[in-house]
Amino acid sequence: MAQFYSPKSKKTKTLPQIIEVEASALDHQGNAVASHEGKVIFVPGLLPGESARVQLEKSKHRFAEGKVVKRLRDHPQRVKPHCSHFDRCGGCQLQYATAQAQREWKQAALLTLLSHRGGQSESEMTKGLAEPLSGPQWHYRRRARIGARVVRGQLLLGFRQRGSNRLLDIDQCPVLAEPLNALLPKLRQQLGTMALAGDIGHVDLVLAHEGPVVVLRVLAPVSKTQRRVLKEWAEKAGCQLLLHTDEGLETLTGAVPSALHYEIGQTASGEPRPMPAFLPGDFVQINDSVNRQMIDQAIEWLQPQPEETGLDLFCGGGNFSFALASLSKHLVGVEGVASMVERASARATELALTNCTFYCADLNGDLPDEAWAQRVDWLLLDPARAGAFGVLPWIPKLAPKRILYISCDPMSLAKDARVLTEQGYEMIRLGLVDMFPHTHHLESMALFVPRSRGKRRA
Ligand SMILES: C[S@@+](CC[C@H](N)C(=O)[O-])C[C@H]1O[C@@H](n2cnc3c(N)ncnc32)[C@H](O)[C@@H]1O
Repeated sequence: MAQFYSPKSKKTKTLPQIIEVEASALDHQGNAVASHEGKVIFVPGLLPGESARVQLEKSKHRFAEGKVVKRLRDHPQRVKPHCSHFDRCGGCQLQYATAQAQREWKQAALLTLLSHRGGQSESEMTKGLAEPLSGPQWHYRRRARIGARVVRGQLLLGFRQRGSNRLLDIDQCPVLAEPLNALLPKLRQQLGTMALAGDIGHVDLVLAHEGPVVVLRVLAPVSKTQRRVLKEWAEKAGCQLLLHTDEGLETLTGAVPSALHYEIGQTASGEPRPMPAFLPGDFVQINDSVNRQMIDQAIEWLQPQPEETGLDLFCGGGNFSFALASLSKHLVGVEGVASMVERASARATELALTNCTFYCADLNGDLPDEAWAQRVDWLLLDPARAGAFGVLPWIPKLAPKRILYISCDPMSLAKDARVLTEQGYEMIRLGLVDMFPHTHHLESMALFVPRSRGKRRA
C-alpha cells in the first residue's frame, strides 16, 4: 500500500494578537515570564508583578513571545534608565530596574533554572545560598570593544543597536570605567578628522594597572604622519596607544608592553596579591571589584590547604591561580590559548611562584596523558559559555574533594550540575555574581563536594 507523508500536526494554540498579562518572574535572560491560557509568555521590558497589554510576536506550542504595547501597572523598583542611549543600545537590557531588584530576580531565575534543568533541590540550594557578590553599579567595565564605522563621511563609535547589526553612535557609556569613558569623546574628535577613520575595524579600550590602553584595529597601512599625529594625541590624552594590524600589535607610545597587569585584591594579612599579566586580546574578568570578591570567595569556599594540590582548569592568565597557589602545596593551571599559558608561566617565574605550573591543552578533548591529569585535592572550573562538558568525564579519575564551578552561563551550569550530581557530588554552596549590572548576563559560583561528605558537613 502506498504510504503518504503527512506532517505531524504541531498543535499551536491560537492566541489573540493583543493580550493582557501579569509577569511573575524574570527568566535567566532577563525577560519577564507571564502566562496566558496555560501558555508561558516571555516579555522583554516587563518586571515581575507588572501587568501590561502585550502584542504576541511568536507563538509556539508551549510558549510565546510578546512585546509590551502599554504597561498597566509598574513595579515600585522600576526606575528611569540612567543612560541616554538605553532605548537603542544593545549593551544593557535591565536599566529600568534598581540594581538591587535585578540581583534579586537574577538569583530567583538561577534557582529556578538549576532546579528545573539542573536537577537540584531548591530548598537545599537555598540553605547553601551566599549573599550575591556585587560592586559599583556604574563604571565597572574595565574593557570594551567599541565598533567603528564611517557613514556618510561621519565616524560612528559605539555598540550594536538592540536587535540589529547596526552601530549606535555613543558619546558616553556609564558602565565603562571612568578613565575609558572619558576617552570616548576625545577618540571621536581625533579619529573623526583623520582619513584613517574608514580603515578602523574596532577600538579596544582596556584599563590596566598601568593605566588606560587604546588599541586601534586598523585594516590598512598607517602612514608616518598618521602615526605621529596619533602618538601626540595619546600622549595628550594620557593613554597608551597600540595599533593592531595584520602583522600584530605595535605601540605608538613606546615599546610594545610584554604584558600589562591587573590587581586581584589582598591576602588575609593585607599584602597585595601577585598581579596576573595580560595583553589586550586576552580574556580578563570585566568587573574589577567583583573579580576581587570572587577570588576571596573562591579561597573561602575551596579552603585550599598547604599540603594540597589544586587544579585550575580554564585558568586564563592565572586570575585565580596566583591567589590560590600561595595557599597550596602545588597548583596546576590549564588553558587552551597558548600565548596566555606562556604569559602565566613567565609571570609565575617572575614572581618566584615555584609551586605553580601552567599547561596548554584543549579541555574539550580526551583526558591528556600528562602528569598533571591525575588525582587532585580540589578542582576549580571556570569555563567559557559552553560549560565544562569536556572535562566532566575526567572527574572520576581526578577525584577532587571539592569542586568550585564559576559559571558565566546558567544553562551550562545547570547541565553540568546535573552530571556532577550523577557522579556523586552535591552542591553545598551557591551564589550569584553580579559581574554585569544592568545586563541580562547571569554569573554564579557553586561549590560541589562528594555526597556523603556533604551530608556530614551539613
Ligand atoms: C571564563 S574564562 C576564565 C579565565 C580565567 N579563569 C579568569 O578568571 O580570568 C574561560 C577561559 O577558558 C579558555 N577556554 C575556552 N575553551 C577552552 C578549551 N576548550 N580548552 C581550554 N581552554 C579553553 C578561554 O581561553 C578562557 O581563558
